[in-house]
Amino acid sequence: MNIFLTGHRGYIGAHLLRLLKEEGHFVIGCDLDLYWESRRGALLEPDRELCKDIRASEPQDLAGCDCVMHLAAISNDPMGELDPALTEQVNIEGSVHLAEIARQAGVPRFLFSSSCSIYGKGESLDLDEEAPLSPQSAYARSKIEAEKRISLLASPDFSPVFLRNATAFGDSPMLRLDLVVNNLLACVLTKGEIRLQSDGSPWRPLIHVQDIARAFIAFLHAPRLLVHNLVVNIGSNNQNHQVREIVQKISERYPQAKIVFTGETGADPRNYRVRFDRLSRLLPEFQVKMSIEKGIDEMVDSFSADPPLTREEFEGGRFTRLSILKRTLSL
Ligand SMILES: NC(=O)c1ccc[n+]([C@@H]2O[C@H](COP(=O)([O-])OP(=O)(O)OC[C@H]3O[C@@H](n4cnc5c(N)ncnc54)[C@H](O)[C@@H]3O)[C@@H](O)[C@H]2O)c1
Repeated sequence: MNIFLTGHRGYIGAHLLRLLKEEGHFVIGCDLDLYWESRRGALLEPDRELCKDIRASEPQDLAGCDCVMHLAAISNDPMGELDPALTEQVNIEGSVHLAEIARQAGVPRFLFSSSCSIYGKGESLDLDEEAPLSPQSAYARSKIEAEKRISLLASPDFSPVFLRNATAFGDSPMLRLDLVVNNLLACVLTKGEIRLQSDGSPWRPLIHVQDIARAFIAFLHAPRLLVHNLVVNIGSNNQNHQVREIVQKISERYPQAKIVFTGETGADPRNYRVRFDRLSRLLPEFQVKMSIEKGIDEMVDSFSADPPLTREEFEGGRFTRLSILKRTLSL
C-alpha cells in the first residue's frame, strides 16, 4: 500500500516507518525534523521524503495514497504551554488541513494520533472512550479539538480513526527522555538518583513505543467500516500504573539510588486510569507485547552501550523536546 506518514522523524514515527517498510509498503514521510539532534540510532529513509510543514501539504502530495498516518504534532504537555498558539496552529489547524486534503485526494483512511492525556483530571478511574474529557493543557485541548473537527469530515469514502495513545515508554532511534518511565530511568543511570516531580500518586496508562507503532499497523489492516470514525484507546488494562509504582520498579533494580521528591509540580492534576476494552473488542488479535520491565531492560542495555548516555546529555536536554524547541524558538 501507499502510506503518507507524518512525523516519521519522531519518537514513535521512527518505529512505525520501520514496521511499514518491513511489511513492504511505499512510504511518503513528511516531517520538519525539528528534533534532529535527538537522533540516537539508525534511522530508515522513507521512499519519498517531504521535509515540509504539514500545514503546507497539498493534495498532490497525497495522490494515490491508501492511508494517512498522522503523527506530526507539537507533542507533550509542557510544550503546549510554551507556545499555545503554535500548538493550536500545528495540532488543530494543521491536522484539519491534512484531513481535508486527504479527503479531497481520495485517501480512504486517516489514522490520527491522539492521546489519553485528554482524559486529564479523571473524575473517576477506569475511563473509557465515552468518559468525560478534562484536558489539563493546551496540548490535550488541541487533540480534542482536532478529533472533533476531523470527525465531521467522515464520509462513506473517508474514514478517520482516532487512536488515543497511552503514554509511551521505551527506546527509539529518536530518543525522548521527557516521558515518565524514560526520564526516571535515565536519571538513575546518569545521576544515580530517582527524581520525582509530583508526589507519585497520579495514575498513568503506559504503552511501549513499539506497541503504539504496531497498533497503527493493526488499524491499517482493520476492515474500514469496522473502525470508521471511531475513537479507540490504545494501551492495555494491566499497564495502568501510579507514578510511584514505576519508581518502585526502578528502585528494585537500583536499590542504592536515592529517591528525591522535587515537588516541582505539586500534586500533578493529570490523573487518569484508562480502559482499553474497545481495542480488544475491535481487534482481538492485537495484543500489547512489551511490559514496562522489558522496556526498562531494553533501555538499560541501550543507554549503557557504547557510547553510553551521559549526564551532560540528560541534563543538557538533547532528548527533551521542550529544551530543543526553546532553543529553536530562541526563548
Ligand atoms: N509519545 C507519547 O507518549 C504519545 C502519547 C500519546 C500520543 N502521542 C502522539 O503521537 C504522535 C507522535 O508522538 P511522538 O512522541 O513520536 O512525537 P515527537 O515529538 O517525537 O515527533 C513529532 C514529529 O513531528 C514533527 N513535526 C512537528 N510539527 C511539525 C509540522 N508542523 N510539520 C511537519 N512535521 C512536524 C517533528 O519534527 C517530530 O519529528 C503525536 O501526535 C503525539 O501527540 C504521543
